Amino acid sequence: MRSRVVLLGPPGAGKGTQAKRISRSTGLVHLSSGDILRDEVSRATELGRTASSFMERGELVPDGLIVDMIRGRIEAAESGFLLDGFPRTVEQAEALEAITPLDVVINIELAREEVVRRLTARRVCEGCGKIYNLLYDPPEDELTCAACSGVLVQRNDDRRDVIENRYDVYERSTAPLIEYYRDRGLLRDVEGMRPSDAISSEILAILPR
Ligand code: AP5
Repeated sequence: MRSRVVLLGPPGAGKGTQAKRISRSTGLVHLSSGDILRDEVSRATELGRTASSFMERGELVPDGLIVDMIRGRIEAAESGFLLDGFPRTVEQAEALEAITPLDVVINIELAREEVVRRLTARRVCEGCGKIYNLLYDPPEDELTCAACSGVLVQRNDDRRDVIENRYDVYERSTAPLIEYYRDRGLLRDVEGMRPSDAISSEILAILPR
């Protein structure tokens, strides 16, 4: 399967959770702009130092930096890709169009109050990146990853005030992409307020064979 897929949706909709599952079962390359940025921040690169001030406030990192960061990775993903967190503005979507055509854009829908609920309870493994939720998918030990024994941490931007701002930024800058891609006949809506297994099955059924 060589699909070129964008996962769209508000913060906390489950884009990362679904991308990891679908990537495992299809071999599509998972490209998460947030994960790439957090790696740059942890290595204190020039991009990471610039990006961190935007990320900790829940604001978007400037379009030019993001497009330069992700272009080569998209071009290298010859077996197909799942884009998670990119594009996030119309400018980024236009830049993406110049890099590659897309097969489908999957829009995972989730209401603000559930976003806040899920993100305040999210924990992530520092070692392998596995995502947990203290409400829906609690680890046996709140501090330790069951998969690799790494340390479970709360993301810096998963504080309630930052989450609220991320949702505002999403509505202002990213939600317009829903109509952008609907107009191009690429959009498929998926209800996010369901168990992860049901959402994965629906996404797998949507992907072109
Ligand atoms: P990024 O890392 O992309 O964050 P985000 O879009 O806000 O999305 P999240 O990672 O918070 O949520 P998700 O949808 O992946 O949900 P998850 O699967 O973890 O971006 C971070 C920052 O980087 C941005 O604020 C910005 O500053 C910068 N940035 C990144 N890309 C950029 C770009 N293109 N342009 C400019 N700036 C950019 O799930 C959430 C929780 O819910 C977890 O605990 C999970 O276990 C749980 N969960 C998932 N599915 C379910 C389910 N079905 N039922 C119950 N619980 C569930």
